Formats: sequence, C-alpha cells, structure tokens
Amino acid sequence: MSFMLRMSWLLASLFFASLSAQNQTTLLTPKPGPAPRLNGPLVYGCRPGHPFLYRVPTQGQRPIQFSADKLPATLHLDPHTGFITGTAPDRGSYQITLMAKNRYGKTKRPFKIVSGDTLALTPPMGWNHWYAHYDRITDKLIREAADSMIQNGMADVGYQFVNIDDCWMNAEKNRDPLRVGPLRDADGRMMSNQHFPDMKALTDYIHHKGLKAGIYSSPGPTTCAGFCGSYEHEAQDAKQFADWGFDFLKYDWCSYDQVVKQVRTIENLQKPYRQMGDLLRQQERDIVLNLCQYGMGNVWEWGAQVGGHSWRTAGDLGYELNRIFQVALKNAKHRVWSKPGSWNDPDYIQIGYIGNARTAGEPEPCPFTAEEQYAFMSLWSLMASPLFYSGDLNRMDALTLNVLCNPEVIEINQDPLGVCARVDSLSPETFLMVKEMADGSTAIGLCNSGEQPARITAAWPQCGLRGKKIVRDVWRHRDLGLFDASLTLAVPRHGVVLVRAWDVGKKRIL
Ligand code: GLA
Repeated sequence: MSFMLRMSWLLASLFFASLSAQNQTTLLTPKPGPAPRLNGPLVYGCRPGHPFLYRVPTQGQRPIQFSADKLPATLHLDPHTGFITGTAPDRGSYQITLMAKNRYGKTKRPFKIVSGDTLALTPPMGWNHWYAHYDRITDKLIREAADSMIQNGMADVGYQFVNIDDCWMNAEKNRDPLRVGPLRDADGRMMSNQHFPDMKALTDYIHHKGLKAGIYSSPGPTTCAGFCGSYEHEAQDAKQFADWGFDFLKYDWCSYDQVVKQVRTIENLQKPYRQMGDLLRQQERDIVLNLCQYGMGNVWEWGAQVGGHSWRTAGDLGYELNRIFQVALKNAKHRVWSKPGSWNDPDYIQIGYIGNARTAGEPEPCPFTAEEQYAFMSLWSLMASPLFYSGDLNRMDALTLNVLCNPEVIEINQDPLGVCARVDSLSPETFLMVKEMADGSTAIGLCNSGEQPARITAAWPQCGLRGKKIVRDVWRHRDLGLFDASLTLAVPRHGVVLVRAWDVGKKRIL
C-alpha cells in the first residue's frame, strides 16, 4: 500500500471510529427489550362519574396481554390494547396492580386511581403543535401526530395528550383563505376553519388510539395569532369543547388586555381563568386547564385556586432557546407551588425539528447539541414540568426519540410527590438540582451551564442525604456503585448528568 493510501485508510478508520464512539455517547437511553415494561404514572386522577380513558403505557414486543387486579367495577381493561375505559368510579382511592405479559416475559406495576376533585396528579405529558406547525396546522397533521406517538413509542412511555394550539378557528383576515370565514355560527357557536372539517371526528380518532385531545382558546376577543377568541362566549365555548370531546384546554391571555384596558390587577388577571375553571368543572368530562398568561401577577401563587392545573411561568420559550439553563433556574424559583394537580410550566420541549420561532417558518433542526437536548429533558424532569414535545413528529430522528423516551427519566418527572427540584449553586456556572422522590430516593442533576466540561461534586449533606447510597445513572440505566458521602462526575459543556440515589437494600422499581 502506498504511503498516501495508508494515510487515507488510517484517516477514514479514525473518522468512522470517532463516529461510532460519538453514536455510543450520543444515544444514552438503551433500546427497550422485547419483554413488557409497564411505564406511566403510579397515580392518576379523575372525577367521579365522568368518562374514563387511559392507555396503559407499555414497552415491549406486541402482542402483549394486559390484566389488572382490583380494578373498580365501573372500569374495564382491554386485554389486547391495554386501554382502561368506562366510567370513573365513586369518590375514593383505588390501589390496582397492572400486569403485562408476552412471549418474552411478564411484569407488574402498582397504579392508584384517585377519583375526586383533582386532575393531573402528575405533570401532563403529550405533544403540542405550535413550534412545529404554527398557523399551518390541519386536521391531517393532528391525526398524523397521534399516529406517530403510537408508532414511535412515545405513547408507550407516557405521552398522552395530542394538543391543537392556535389557528384552528377562523380569523377575519389571514394569509390562508381557508382560515378566513365566519367566527361563529348563527347560534353563536365557535366555528373551526376549513382545515378542521369535523372536530368530534378528530377527537374520536385520537381517543380510538387511547390518547387524549387538547384544544386552545383565548379569553380575549382574538387569540395571539388573530383568530376567534372566547370573549363573551365562555360558557358556550366550554360546553362546545366538552361536546367535541376535548380533554385539555390551553387558555391564552392574548387580547384580554383590551378587555381590562391594560389594567393588570390581580383581580383582572384572575377573572377570566376563574370563570373558565368554573365552567370546565361543570362539564360532564375531565378537562385539564393550562393557564397561558406568561407568569403575570405571580400566577403560580393562585393558578390552582382559579381551577388551573398548570401555568406558564414566563413568556414564549421559542425566543429563549439559547437560555435553557437560565429559564430552568427562573422556573425552579417557584418550586413551592409545584404539587399534584398544580404545575409550573416553563413551556414546551423544543428539540428535533422545530419551526423558527421568529419567522414561524417550516421545521428545521433545532440549534442544540446532543448534550443540550439531554440537559433540556433532564431539567424539565427534575422540575416536574409538564412534558409537551413541540416539534415535527413526522421528522423524528433517533436522537430526539432517545431524549424523549427514557422511562427512568420520565419516572422522575412523573413522581407522585410532585416536588420540583431545589437548586444548590456551586459556582457561577455549575449547580445541583435535588428532587425528593416518593419512594424515599433522591434524584440529583449535576448541571453545567458553562462553556467547558466540568467535574461536579454532589456532597450528600448538600443533597439532604446521609450514609451509603446506591447511585444509578438514569439516562444509561446503569448503576454507578455505592457512594458513602459524595459523588463526583464529569459533566459536559451545557450538560446535565442525571442520577438517582437509594438507600442500600431498598427495593427499587426500575
Ligand atoms: C402565545 C403562546 C404560545 C402560542 C401562541 C399561539 O404566544 O404563549 O405558546 O400558543 O400564543 O398564537
């Protein structure tokens, strides 16, 4: 072999070796095995007498056979699909055991149904169209999103809501003539635009997949994108959304400033949300209410009182993608208000293919490195934030799926205690995030917002821990060993290493 040939062979093999090393380090979540693995929250809230629908999130090769022990008599679990349907039982707490088996193995998992007043006992999870499709959204894209969530495995780790954002109604003017038309019909009912020919058929489609459907409106006369809002038709719209079969409403302040003439007293800020919260509670179905008013009037202090289940704590993240760590630190300041049924919402997970937030352009790859994407998901999980992916599900790549679909990471987000991690600053660029878990374990994020890799130490007293702990890297599903008093790990630039620490000998559900 000539020298030149040898050199190019060497360079090529070095290149491919580095590529495969990169792939190994890049995709942290191990591939799910063929045996069944039951995922999803350990606790689920519903309101007595309402229609009940829950698709038991389960990984593993189909066919899987599902069964349940102690399911209330008003509910039925389909052994083939794993959908629990029926009518929510009488007020009370029902401790159930879910079971799944296939030819590779069997497993079980506790699941508590709490039938009472509170929905969203764990942070809502799903997909929202906004940062993928903006004002291009159609019935077809929403159906495709539901299909993708089933096909790509997102639904098997707990993503459940398929949410329409703005632009499904008519506007007085719009660049797309199919979105222009009468805002309401002769009876005052809000009309969907021509891209959404039949809203009931759309929610039926989503429900038949075991998923739930979300819709969007504004308390003002128009939405943020200039479409019909609910002002002066609130009761009619709440009923309409329920009749159409929606399970979630995002209620976006937008033009409500016109109604209150820019006077943002607490009373004015609360009024439209209290009104919609009351109206939704009067419907014959469970509808989760997301308050979108960008954190005005310290909404975290009163969002739950007015009937909200989550509230945006700041403006649109679409404009702050380069400030994920700062956004998280700001959001975590409101941690005391995080609890089952009431969640601080720092906005959607925007990774993979997302539209350009400034130009509302077509989806293109997000500006994040792999480490930043894992950091995004780690921070949102530690903060018990609602987990809504808002990117193009038709262009889902392996990394995006790997970041979104790690059941051990999601388990931290969905923990029944509902605690948002507390922040312990170590240096201007490094900090710990520490989240207590219901089983007595502790989730710890070793966070590095700096431009260089860093070695970060989590000392047990700082994490509220004492004595020997078994520590697990939850991204890689790998035990790191026993640690007596602290843990020191290398954390990449703009990265988070996420671990969970248990007392030695403690039974772990993994
Ligand atoms: C506001 C919200 C966004 C999105 C748009 C739709 O900006 O904060 O999340 O819903 O409106 O117009």
